[in-house]
Amino acid sequence: MGKSTELRVCKDLDELNATAAVLFLELSLEKTGEKGFFTAVLSGGKTPEALYKLLATPQFKVKIPWEKVHLFWGDERCVGPDDPESNYGMAEKALISKVGIPAGNVHRIKGELSAPVAASLYEDEIKAFFGKGEPVFDLVMLGLGDDGHTLSLFPATTALVETKRLVAGNFVEKFGSWRVTMTLPLVNRASNLVFMAAGAGKSAVVKEVFEGSDHPADRIRPINGRLVWLLDTEAAKLL
Ligand code: 6PG
Repeated sequence: MGKSTELRVCKDLDELNATAAVLFLELSLEKTGEKGFFTAVLSGGKTPEALYKLLATPQFKVKIPWEKVHLFWGDERCVGPDDPESNYGMAEKALISKVGIPAGNVHRIKGELSAPVAASLYEDEIKAFFGKGEPVFDLVMLGLGDDGHTLSLFPATTALVETKRLVAGNFVEKFGSWRVTMTLPLVNRASNLVFMAAGAGKSAVVKEVFEGSDHPADRIRPINGRLVWLLDTEAAKLL
């Protein structure tokens, strides 16, 4: 675990999601106040769904300046937006359809296209959004697989060792399917990188990452930004 890593262990899932939601709210206000917009990269999988639903409740929804929030995705499965596997589709149902964010602020990875084409288009969209400036996201939400993957950077896959592209197609042997994923050179530039992991099933891999490992999640090393781990007691129990 790097020296500038913050660890917060929450007593249960409710506290984990509330902590993440407050962090999202605070960053959205800070960044829109500073520069007029807030860029947030959402993670996929199951863990963050409850967070997205919480952000859509009146407790948070009315406080977040959605018209100035831009949502991106750290990775996507190569499926259409209506597919139950779609990371975008999950966030659309849990959050986007409920908060009135302008359609132009939702930057979806086009999973219905081939991985290389979707990756290339997404990289172009990111570059166009940031213009001449370096693509530095304000917030990147990250999940953790029990094999140590994050985003769709799985062990021993080509995108994990990509050093130039910002977004890459990635064939994942264990699923026999393609993914589209942001790469380490892109996400490690972000200002705030926040892992969320919960449940006893993640405790062993969390311990390995914190002790130093070759897991993809261990290669998340912000260049100038802040790294925060949000765990529940179950996921943190071996630390
Ligand atoms: C994905 C995610 C992936 C996820 C981990 C953890 O597309 O699946 O981006 O990196 O965060 O696999 O997933 P769970 O939260 O479902 O355990």
